[in-house]
Amino acid sequence: MPASFDRIADRYDETRALDESVLQRIAEELERELTTSSRILETGVGTGRIAAPLQRCGFDIVGLDISRKMLSRAIEKDVSTVLLADITALPFMDDSFDHVLSVHVTHLIGDWIAALQEMSRVASNRFVAVVSDREGCDVRAMGRVYEDRCAEMGFEVAHPGIEEQDIADVAAPFRTVHVADVEDGMSSAEAIERYRSRTYSDQWNVPDDVHEYAVDGLLELFEHGSDLKRREQISMMVWHVEDIRKGLLELRR
Ligand SMILES: C[S@@+](CC[C@H](N)C(=O)[O-])C[C@H]1O[C@@H](n2cnc3c(N)ncnc32)[C@H](O)[C@@H]1O
Repeated sequence: MPASFDRIADRYDETRALDESVLQRIAEELERELTTSSRILETGVGTGRIAAPLQRCGFDIVGLDISRKMLSRAIEKDVSTVLLADITALPFMDDSFDHVLSVHVTHLIGDWIAALQEMSRVASNRFVAVVSDREGCDVRAMGRVYEDRCAEMGFEVAHPGIEEQDIADVAAPFRTVHVADVEDGMSSAEAIERYRSRTYSDQWNVPDDVHEYAVDGLLELFEHGSDLKRREQISMMVWHVEDIRKGLLELRR
């Protein structure tokens, strides 16, 4: 069982903050794709980072998550309907929703095939993912140093599932649209502190001695470094759920 996001709920939003303008762009792209009157299930809704602004734009969103504390944050942001449940066993009848939305979730689920089966079972129309490419991001590059140091100690840092963008290997999305380029800075001290305090979920099961060795590596390389660039290219990918269902059947053959 992967560690719960309960541990990070109080800090999650500051580590994943998106400008209001970017959230507005995501809402605009969704509006182009889905009518606001449709019923949307956001699986792994977390703190409502995406669902809350979408709901303010008029979308009818049910937010589902396995972490009680993440959901409490979503409730504080007035996400009107939330549900504590596991994506791999969704408590809904077939086709209960028009669309399913997933943002930075499927990489966390070892049985990602069951997750995709469930998400495409309960929606009748589209599966939408908001994805990030962090090529050229210095903070991500620091993460690779952390991973390499863990590998030196014989520990592989990895997520159990697949990124939403890799669902393209199961079925081709019918639309991929670039939403925004986000670029800002962070001091190397702050970035090191994020890794030291195990902010990122792929760090949660790193043994203490391996973690300490990896953080020492970051201190050696970056402690007196200059500010780091943070870069994220955000896109939206849209699938017909029917194509995902067919792709999953192909996988089983
Ligand atoms: C990285 S956060 C993303 C939250 C939100 N989608 C966002 O973009 O801000 C991943 C969320 O997925 C939830 N999650 C992970 N595995 C889950 C599962 N099997 N069922 C339901 N939620 C799950 C976690 O509790 C967490 O809130």
